Amino acid sequence: MMDLRSQFPQIDIQVRGRPLVYLDSAATVLKPQIVIDELTRYYSKDVANVHRGAHWLAENGTSQYESARAEVASFLGAADSSEIVFTRGTTESLNLVASSLTLQLKAGDEIVLTELEHHSNIVPWQILAERVGAVIRVARITPGGVIDLDHMRSLLNSRTKVISFSACSNVLGTTIDPRLVTSMAKSVGAIVVVDAAQAVTAGPINVVDWDADFVAFSGHKIFAPFGIGALYGKKARLEALAPYQGGGSMIDRVSFEKTTWAYVPQKFEAGTPNVGDALALGVALQWYRSLPESERYTKAKALADSVRGQLSALGGFDIYGAAENSALVSFNMKGIHASDVGSILDQQGIAVRTGHHCCQPLMQKLGVPATIRASFSIYNNRDDAERLVAGLLKARELLS
Ligand SMILES: Cc1ncc(COP(=O)(O)O)c(C=O)c1O
Repeated sequence: MMDLRSQFPQIDIQVRGRPLVYLDSAATVLKPQIVIDELTRYYSKDVANVHRGAHWLAENGTSQYESARAEVASFLGAADSSEIVFTRGTTESLNLVASSLTLQLKAGDEIVLTELEHHSNIVPWQILAERVGAVIRVARITPGGVIDLDHMRSLLNSRTKVISFSACSNVLGTTIDPRLVTSMAKSVGAIVVVDAAQAVTAGPINVVDWDADFVAFSGHKIFAPFGIGALYGKKARLEALAPYQGGGSMIDRVSFEKTTWAYVPQKFEAGTPNVGDALALGVALQWYRSLPESERYTKAKALADSVRGQLSALGGFDIYGAAENSALVSFNMKGIHASDVGSILDQQGIAVRTGHHCCQPLMQKLGVPATIRASFSIYNNRDDAERLVAGLLKARELLS
């Protein structure tokens, strides 16, 4: 197999006069050449609007677009590609479900979220709750930063209509097996929605095993371009859901008196779709799945573990979450603001994320305004981990 790192052209750039150390892969991953090439190939040769024209290019485009959908279905372990709706990403997928559920929820119904959710798995539900008069209940996390399933169970009752949670925290790296939630949701008949934005690169996924009703993810976190992602929905759930947006392609017949909808998934794909990025997502998933598991999961996790271990041994760092098997480490340097540390790392060409990571309620729970998050991916190596630790020691020297 070709060296993985060399497949990522951006990994070799210089930043602020220093070779880049890219440790912000939980925000977005760098793109492999094969995905960049697919975009060029598509836009050089194959552009045509899909599902519309009667000409060869339109038909060819439609079949490529539908093959990309089948690739997503296969990646997620879905039974049928009609259960895959292309969206702009996790945020749009979650908004689609929350917005479309407006007709199924009523005043007094309850929506269960958790303390570690990203804003994109909080705000759409708040909008829904305000519209229909539903109530948001929040499941706690344990001191180690894992969703507290006992507490979640204690929140469930006959009014619980939705449980929506992240299978892998973007701040703590902690994970939860979705099956533990879906099995308890059954007792009250709640719809289970999984935010899999981080889970897609944390380990193998099988939505049928998970038994989740809906699963959302973003292509850009799994080597595809920005602006493309998907929502998986069990066929019956998708069929029961009202359309999210109206327009071309999502209809069966239109008249001023009454319009009827196309079958799923077209019912949820109004307007001209993002064909080029969907094809690139298909290529990205195929490429990613062709890598051995040791490359996909083990390597990045080992690097994050080694940094976590070194920071604990050095002392003077607060490390958040007890994720032993995660590709990221979230921490603070005692007495120093995260953004100050981030700027000093940046001056050394080291890209980490600092801030609330779109998880303000979780920051409140942790009692900090921000954390520093170093997140690793398949292109990182030991040198990156060493430069991070050395950069942190330098930051400490300059700031204390
Ligand atoms: C756990 C989690 N959920 C949701 C999102 C939102 O993803 P996007 O901005 O790609 O829609 C992210 C992105 O950082 C995330 O990490």
